[in-house]
Amino acid sequence: MERTFIMLKPDAVQRGLVGAVITRFEEKGFKLAGMKLLQVDRTLAEAHYAEHKGKGFFEPTVTYIMSSPVVAMVWEGKNVVALARELMGATNPANANPGSIRGMYAMDISRNVIHGSDSVTSAEREIGLYFKPEELINYRKVGDEWLSE
Ligand code: PPS
Repeated sequence: MERTFIMLKPDAVQRGLVGAVITRFEEKGFKLAGMKLLQVDRTLAEAHYAEHKGKGFFEPTVTYIMSSPVVAMVWEGKNVVALARELMGATNPANANPGSIRGMYAMDISRNVIHGSDSVTSAEREIGLYFKPEELINYRKVGDEWLSE
C-alpha cells in the first residue's frame, strides 16, 4: 500500500491544530503507520528542503521548520500521496480550496500548517529522513474492507 510523509509544521502545533488535522486524515480513511513529535535541527531541515537550496524562500523555510516542534507522520492508503495533497490544498493558502486543510486553517504561504510529499519518490526520501524502518508499523485496521475492494 502507498505511503506518504506528512508533517504538521510548528504553527500547527503552536495553534493547537494537531488533533483537527489528524482527524481529517483519519476520517478520509487513511491509516497511520508512524508518528513522532520532534524538534527539527538545521541538518535535517536543510536535507528536507535540499531541492529548494538557492531559492529566496529556502532560509526562511528552514528557519520556520526549526522554530518549534513538529509532528512527523507516515500515512498509508490507496493513492495517498496525491489524495493527501488534495486534502491539504494548494501550497499557498491564498489559493487553497476553502474546504482543504490550508484553506480552513491558513492564510499565508510562510505559515501553511502542513507539509506533504509531492510524489511517491519524494515520500520514500522524506520518510527515510524522519523514520527508521522499525518505527513504521504494518497492521490490520478494523474497517479496512469498507474503504476499498
Ligand atoms: S515551488 O515553488 O514549486 O518551488 O514550491 P514547492 O515545491 O511547492 O514547495 C516549496 C516549499 O517551500 C515553502 N515556501 C515557499 N514556497 C514558495 N514560495 C514561497 N514564498 C515560500 N515560502 C515557503 C512551501 O510551503 C513549500 O514547503 P512545504 O513544506 O512543501 O509546504
